[in-house]
Amino acid sequence: MRKIVIAIDGYASTGKSSIAKLLSSHLNYIYVNSGSMYRAITFHAISKELIPLTKKNINTLISLLSDIQLDYRINNSTGFYDIYLNNTNLESKLKSLEVSNHVSSIAEIPQIRKHVVKIQKSFQHKGGLVMDGRDIGSVVFPNADLKLFLTASDDVRAKRRYDELINEGYEINYEDIFNNIISRDKKDSKRKDSPLIIPKDAVVIDNSKMNIIDQLNFIIKLIKTKFNF
Ligand code: DC
Repeated sequence: MRKIVIAIDGYASTGKSSIAKLLSSHLNYIYVNSGSMYRAITFHAISKELIPLTKKNINTLISLLSDIQLDYRINNSTGFYDIYLNNTNLESKLKSLEVSNHVSSIAEIPQIRKHVVKIQKSFQHKGGLVMDGRDIGSVVFPNADLKLFLTASDDVRAKRRYDELINEGYEINYEDIFNNIISRDKKDSKRKDSPLIIPKDAVVIDNSKMNIIDQLNFIIKLIKTKFNF
């Protein structure tokens, strides 16, 4: 059976990675979370004390890019790829509000996007790929076989992210999470380089009232219809 490339884009906290993981497991495909690369670079910038992102700090970060080795390695216990920066597994460190509050400013720097997109594109040859992010259907894989765009109401998204972080032991308040996702959407949609857009050939899924199994069933049906699987 032909292996396809599935691009999942959408607003912050619309459950892109949850459905991407489930879908990739169902199809026995590789799943790559593209946002984790921008988050890893943000984590690195914070550790190198390059925040606030003054012009000087941005230039320093750009000059460090050639020394930042980013790669994904399979985690045998989860079956998914974890992100490594200079051989350190950062997977569990990237969801903090501190990283979330700075990541959109890092992600709008064109030199950083160029560096990251090159690595993301290298996954295409593997075939059988699900990648989620903001510019996957528009820039990284404009010829993706299937493009999905997820959206949900602001409150539903904030509540989901809040519950997820509380379950993982983070100390956060709902208002901060709500403000973070709204301001990231705004910044991600307004940036000059590869803004978050709805690709014209994408299927838009508003999952405000759908659970994850409803979403999986909907997407599987779509794939069956479109590709005769
Ligand atoms: O998917 P995420 O919420 O972990 O992504 C974090 C940020 O990274 C998001 O607010 C914008 C940026 N991002 C991007 O610009 N392009 C992508 N393909 C993925 C993420």
